[in-house]
Amino acid sequence: MALTITIPRPDDWHVHLREGEMLDAVIGYTSLRFRYAMVMPNLSTPIATTDQAITYRKLIDQATPAESPDFHPLMTLYCSSQLEAIDLLHGYKEGIVKAVKYYPAGATTNSKSGGSSMMDFAHIFTTMQDAGIPLLVHAESTNPAIDIYDREAAFLEHELDIVCNNFPEMKVTVEHISTSAGVDFVNAHETVGASVTPHHLSRNRSDMISPAFHADLFCKPVINSESDRRILVQTVTSGSPSFFLGTDSAPHPTKAKYGKEAKAGIFNAAYGLEVVAEIFATENKLENLAAFTSENGAAFYGYTPAEEHLVLTREQVEIEVATHLSTESGNEVVLFGAEEASHWTIQASID
Ligand code: DOR
Ligand code: ZN
Repeated sequence: MALTITIPRPDDWHVHLREGEMLDAVIGYTSLRFRYAMVMPNLSTPIATTDQAITYRKLIDQATPAESPDFHPLMTLYCSSQLEAIDLLHGYKEGIVKAVKYYPAGATTNSKSGGSSMMDFAHIFTTMQDAGIPLLVHAESTNPAIDIYDREAAFLEHELDIVCNNFPEMKVTVEHISTSAGVDFVNAHETVGASVTPHHLSRNRSDMISPAFHADLFCKPVINSESDRRILVQTVTSGSPSFFLGTDSAPHPTKAKYGKEAKAGIFNAAYGLEVVAEIFATENKLENLAAFTSENGAAFYGYTPAEEHLVLTREQVEIEVATHLSTESGNEVVLFGAEEASHWTIQASID
């Protein structure tokens, strides 16, 4: 018997939609499957003002396929020296801006406009706490003296903990948690939630570097140990309300990923849901899948779950699935999770 589960249409609480031909090539994967998408602002020119968010939102709307059922991009502003509290508040009140994203400078793709110390932005956080604007955090130390696998824990201890103590009412998301330290931090703070990616749930650091370096699994924060992965899996499959799906889908052309300096980022808008479904099925926890993909994040950000539903079926036969996409100029991007996707079909429920 095929395994079947019905869930409210999921939300993606962390996605990189890019711009130009990459936006055109990837948007349909997100808009045809997800309802809300929290859109990251790390374009080559960071999105740091409400006007820029309006312009970017228009580009996304123009690129979105007409048949997308019920898709809503949620715009974020980049926490940089360009960000002004008055403009942020205006954008938030107008319903254009939904959150602010903090990047430590140098931690990842297009992060050079980020911060070197979170508390430099205390004046912005005061406004955010008062207005109820969520802060989304790339929690990864850039201190080269700290082992790369300990950088999430270090950042949480030395940076974010101070912010949370100073702004105890601010809603904070630790993005793409990758370690047990991330889980502990979220569980210790009432106003803090976490997005969790399909790749941090399904792969470990040995997969990334053995038998040879595998650039398709290189992302920031780097995928961590098997014991960290196990704790992430136990946490999300338990249905715990502070944890929700954020794919961190981050497309890079293969020529950039396989080049001299491998670009960090994994494109999983296409099959991230299948990867997550496979994990919940393996753990015998499919009854908690909807909490993770469609309910917890919505509740955290103040929305109700989608009314529309998707039916996910684990097929006994293997289905042939695409492994790459091509942009208009011929750039290729690898689709993460093709193996898992070959076991699942996903359709809108007709009810
Ligand atoms: O792996 C990543 N890629 N992590 C990030 O934080 C950014 C992203 C990107 O934009 O490519
Ligand atoms: Zn990201």
